[in-house]
Amino acid sequence: MTEPDHPPDEGAARAASAERRWAIASVALVALLLFMAGYAGIHQATMPQAHVETADPRRLHLAGEFVEGNLGSALEADGSVTVRAIGQQYSFTPQCIVIPTGTPVTFRATSADVVHGFLIDGTTVNTMLIPGYISTVPTRFETPGERHMPCHEFCGTGHEGMWGRLKVIDKADFLLMATKQRRLSCVE
Ligand code: CUA
Repeated sequence: MTEPDHPPDEGAARAASAERRWAIASVALVALLLFMAGYAGIHQATMPQAHVETADPRRLHLAGEFVEGNLGSALEADGSVTVRAIGQQYSFTPQCIVIPTGTPVTFRATSADVVHGFLIDGTTVNTMLIPGYISTVPTRFETPGERHMPCHEFCGTGHEGMWGRLKVIDKADFLLMATKQRRLSCVE
């Protein structure tokens, strides 16, 4: 019969120290995860976005991508659609936005005066329109239909009445419209 390498009390001491090491490691892991969550949530949220696009709210109507003739839905060379819109007290321009089904759509919008909300009912599209900055939201709709776009940031006495409409139409119909007009909307 062979002798054990260590006396029994030494074995217990080694087990206890191994347990302590594992306890320290697991607490350290939890601390690291908490730090990572805190860093992502607090530090990154207080930093500006990687690329901030600006637009002078006093000059939107004079030059640049938000001049009136450039608002609405534009078919891009790659087949995607870019929608440019402005929020102002107390309406959106265009008041009715038209987009096709089954197509990548990017909203680019800004405010001409105060902070407005840009939200499409029943979707995850939800952002703020901040004067001086361009808000960009990528999205895609698979089914045709009509949705409301209420302003959801209090912007003054007319806030309650500030809303627009979004019409998702069949892709073929949209492409046909796009052959006749450079910028599309459903404003009647
Ligand atoms: Cu615009 Cu509320």
